[in-house]
Amino acid sequence: MDIDDILEEAAEVARPAAEHGKVAGYIPEMAKLDPKSFGLVMCELDGTEHGVGDIDEPFAIQSMSKVFSLILAMQKLGTEHTVTDELWCRVGREPSGDPFNSLVQLEHEQGIPRNPMINAGALVVDDVLIDHCKDPDASMRELVRQLTGDEIEINPAIATSEGGASYRNRAMANLMADFGNLNHTVDEVLTTYNDQCATMMTARQLARSMRFLANDGIEPDSGEQILDAALARRVTAIMLTCGTYDAAGEFAFSVGLPCKSGVAGGIMAVAPDHSGLCVWSPPLDSSGNSLAGRAALHELTNRLELSIF
Ligand code: DON
Repeated sequence: MDIDDILEEAAEVARPAAEHGKVAGYIPEMAKLDPKSFGLVMCELDGTEHGVGDIDEPFAIQSMSKVFSLILAMQKLGTEHTVTDELWCRVGREPSGDPFNSLVQLEHEQGIPRNPMINAGALVVDDVLIDHCKDPDASMRELVRQLTGDEIEINPAIATSEGGASYRNRAMANLMADFGNLNHTVDEVLTTYNDQCATMMTARQLARSMRFLANDGIEPDSGEQILDAALARRVTAIMLTCGTYDAAGEFAFSVGLPCKSGVAGGIMAVAPDHSGLCVWSPPLDSSGNSLAGRAALHELTNRLELSIF
């Protein structure tokens, strides 16, 4: 059976799971998403693309932006040594086992977030980016342009909606500022973060953007080394262990690939030496991950034997 047929079948098996999930309601603009939207796409390293459903409709990348901000911070810091000195002393690399916006560990652990994939960790990464980029959001757009060949935009209505509802993120930023783990103002860090979350991309663009992580840090079309191979491996390790929050164990078990989710219902994944993947279906489970998205990735990786395990 060819890959296109397998994608069609995975989509068919997965779509009904969306009925059991809920579209994110805590950001007003996200509540407007159509629960029936669904797209599944695979971009192979040789440039062959396979897709089914709404793969060219832009949606807010939300927490998937945390992968791009981590990549950007690693690029700016340059070497494993500098990343260790400037980043890993301020944010950990352990799964949190708690929801992505939990405040509990942060107080116990003196303002050092567990990892860069939860909200608190991404705020610290953004604080680092403000130190190293003239305009962190423009740098992220430029990174994504390099990875996809496309210009991408921020949706200002979503960024504003997010800003108006960011009570928890503001609380985390304040707590970290109190512990001395932010160099910039809470407002500056939150604005950078909210804009990144409101970046609009399609499932096809997101899948393309993951190919370099499946290819030792080299963007396969341009041949450009985006990240040193060792640093690229660190990113995928963190995606696998922390990218889907307190469901990361379940994702490793049922999907078996490094993944990163966002509350608009996107999940992007890396199949080493093979492809970048993305699935989009807005209804979420209680951990904030797309329900039908996980089901589709489960079907796909099982049928194509793509699991890294
Ligand atoms: O900060 C927030 O809560 C959202 N902008 C992003 C959270 C998110 O996408 C969690 N992912 N599944």
